[in-house]
Amino acid sequence: MTRTLITGGTIVTASDTYKADVLVDGEKVAMIGKGLKPDGAKKLDAGGMYVIPGGIDVHTHMELPFGGTTASDDFETGTRAAAFGGTTSIVDFAVQGFGEPLRKAQDLWLKKAQGKAVIDYGLHMIVRDVSDKVLREMDTLVRDGISSFKLFMAYPGVFMLDDGAIFKALVRTGENGGLICMHAENGGVIDVLVKKALAEKKTAPKWHALTRPPEVEGEATGRAFKLAEMAGGVPLYIVHLSAAQALEQVRLFRDRGLPAYAETCPQYLFLSYDNYEEPGFDGAKYVMSPPLRPKWHQDELWKGLARNDLQVVSTDHCPFCMKEGFAGMPKQKELGKGDFSKIPNGAPGVETRMALMYDGGVVGGRITLNRWIELTSTTPAKIMGMFPRKGTVAVGSDADLVLWDPKATQVLSAKTHHMRVDYNPYEGRKVRGRASVVLSRGEVIVQDGKFLGKTGRGRFVKRGAPVLQT
Ligand code: URP
Ligand code: ZN
Ligand code: ZN
Repeated sequence: MTRTLITGGTIVTASDTYKADVLVDGEKVAMIGKGLKPDGAKKLDAGGMYVIPGGIDVHTHMELPFGGTTASDDFETGTRAAAFGGTTSIVDFAVQGFGEPLRKAQDLWLKKAQGKAVIDYGLHMIVRDVSDKVLREMDTLVRDGISSFKLFMAYPGVFMLDDGAIFKALVRTGENGGLICMHAENGGVIDVLVKKALAEKKTAPKWHALTRPPEVEGEATGRAFKLAEMAGGVPLYIVHLSAAQALEQVRLFRDRGLPAYAETCPQYLFLSYDNYEEPGFDGAKYVMSPPLRPKWHQDELWKGLARNDLQVVSTDHCPFCMKEGFAGMPKQKELGKGDFSKIPNGAPGVETRMALMYDGGVVGGRITLNRWIELTSTTPAKIMGMFPRKGTVAVGSDADLVLWDPKATQVLSAKTHHMRVDYNPYEGRKVRGRASVVLSRGEVIVQDGKFLGKTGRGRFVKRGAPVLQT
């Protein structure tokens, strides 16, 4: 078994910052201390660097069939890009086929990932119909390590569930120890607004945002928490929260002592409605749901992160190409030229999350170094049942470690990124900080800008029950 001694770095966890060496033995962290001198260990110099737990992105969509096409990153290209950015685990979403057993989707997504993923991965399950049989299967999935379920309050006829179905699923997770992750937008209202806009020949990408106003997210978020309260005060986790109105609801329920949790994503912290006003069809790059909001929401979200009303930053990585033909891709965003409602919803981000949050958060003085780790690695691991195996630097934990160079700068660009998509939403943005060396279960998989891991080395992570804190 390979032994690696990481010397001279500064360890940063959610709670501590200190100088120490780290001995990695095989796949695990074996020792942490000053002046370690183990026999026969390879040395990795971390002088001037932070030694952090690898990032954990609990919201990705590799190879997701959606909007008439399929997300352009698969588990190989997407997880390789994640590794370059300092992320060493993802939790992706399997999708139940209508009227089909959850088991079928589980098998399908494991097949997509196996032999391809280069970092470890877990799965959530998107539940599209809530029959008694499906409810029983949810219990089995929790035992199999797929302990969270995404439900939708939007996309009528595709994903949307009614309140009764949502309530049943919430009650069930209250009993089986799983967690409901909610896409909270009022799909009925959105549908009416979209039809009206199209009837008025309002077809440009910006109408995607204008037909999904922040109030539809605020309403759905409040309703979701109310349903969770009626289901017995069960925990509920809101995904991709974008709007101050939704954050207000999270705060309201948390202040009442209810187990209310939410993630936001870098796009809602660094991009805004103004991006939809870019010339021509370029606004399509930012068509995602919920959409980007007017700039003032960003300050509210940063406050939410600092005060722990938002506990996680994930990416909702779901890339679609702007132009047909890139890497052999069919028409994707262009499907919606002349009709915004046909633009596939989603944007890339799995590679840029850690750097954006370091630069905009830590260097920008909005969060501390430790809070950066808590939001991007430790709390995601806890809420998604992977802690302490993942999400920290500790003896016995998986040696998923990143040597983070705080002095390096990088310019985010489609020319240099590793995601399989022909644009970068942050094109040209200069950020401080870079993942210099990335270890996954003790193996160096990225070093000096090169990928050194093997395709398919990533393993399925059987997740436990969420560890929830207020
Ligand atoms: O626009 C988005 N968010 N696409 C991915 C699917 C989802 O709702 O998370
Ligand atoms: Zn969603
Ligand atoms: Zn998503």
